[in-house]
Amino acid sequence: MGVVRFSVVTAFPEYFHAFLNTSIVGKAIKEGKIEVEIVNLRDFAQNSYGQIDDYSYGGGGMVIMPEPLYKALESIKSDKAYVVYPSPQGVILTQDVVEALAAKDHVILICGHYEGIDERFVEKCVDLEISIGDYVLTGGELPAMVIIDAVSRLIPGVVGKKEAVLEDSFYKGMLDYPHYTRPAEWNGIQVPEELTSGDHERTARWRMRQAALRTLSRRPDLLPRAGIRPYLSRGIYVMLVHHPVLNKNDEVVTSAVTGLDLHDISRSCMTYGVDKFLVITPLKSQRDMIHKITAHWERASKEGLNPMRSEALNLVKTFNSIEFAIMWIKRREKEKPFIVATTAKKRKGAIPWLELKRTILEQDAPLCLVFGTSWGLADEIFNQVDAVLDPILGGYGEYNHLSVRSAVAVALDRFFGSR
Ligand code: ADE
Repeated sequence: MGVVRFSVVTAFPEYFHAFLNTSIVGKAIKEGKIEVEIVNLRDFAQNSYGQIDDYSYGGGGMVIMPEPLYKALESIKSDKAYVVYPSPQGVILTQDVVEALAAKDHVILICGHYEGIDERFVEKCVDLEISIGDYVLTGGELPAMVIIDAVSRLIPGVVGKKEAVLEDSFYKGMLDYPHYTRPAEWNGIQVPEELTSGDHERTARWRMRQAALRTLSRRPDLLPRAGIRPYLSRGIYVMLVHHPVLNKNDEVVTSAVTGLDLHDISRSCMTYGVDKFLVITPLKSQRDMIHKITAHWERASKEGLNPMRSEALNLVKTFNSIEFAIMWIKRREKEKPFIVATTAKKRKGAIPWLELKRTILEQDAPLCLVFGTSWGLADEIFNQVDAVLDPILGGYGEYNHLSVRSAVAVALDRFFGSR
């Protein structure tokens, strides 16, 4: 994260005086963490009357002329400037855009006014148009301040606690939980007991739950991109079934465990915060083979070889039937898990992944995602689960034959990955 420098081209420098001398941004400038230079567009006016704008061709209000803007831009010394024009026609400013700007060395903000600026300047000089929302302001000065403020707080040391910024990215894409301060009772309203209890775990759980409920009720549109794992307090389990599964003739069979599935699925589970990877096979010889593989990597890790692999394989737990695995989860969680079967074929009653994501967040119950090997889970399983997930579709052609380890990775990313 390296923006230290902003340059603002504006016909109204007065706008910025309080902003640049107040609170967190003011302090960041004083401490040299960011640099903000204000360039007065009127210094580059066309004539001695200080003209910077003219009537719009085709009728309308005033438009800022390209030449004063160009001269102002030229006056700013920079090797690697990124030029931003705040305008209602731009891409919407989101935290992703803020993060992208924070990675630049030097951001130049061009403030329009009146009807806007000459389009030829935009074409020639602007890298990105940014809108701060679907409404129209009188000029680009407030949006420029919004951008500087949001980018600055990502620069190390600008906001008080480093954790505040880290939290932003960890709890990505969800709304914040409610905050309270003294007094503990105000106007007859108590601060929630969870916050005054002094029990940190309870406080953290309550906060995550409030954030989840707020996001669900106020901004469900955020859910497709949100990483919801930190908001779930119960265990997440991935189950890989080798019996009962179908073969290509739709007969119920027992498939063979593969090393690739063990390695790759446990790595995916580790990456997305799954608590245990449950491998189901009724064949003792196959379970013994799994234990040999995990023990081998455990030993290898102790000898300093690829500890990350044994960390992931540590998630593996074998069972000889689905029923035993579910009983084990129930004992561990003291609650029956919400069981979701997956399939590559369309099934009546199957639900879209976004609906399941919402359900997972709403219920905050232990979750078990069940994946079948070979030609998929046997029919009998679908009658025993709480939900069936729609197949993952590539959206191209008829072919739909992902490996089970790819399907697990895609599903985990949909539910728990943030983007
Ligand atoms: N200029 C005027 N309105 C604006 C908006 N909503 N976002 C960015 N710049 C603007």
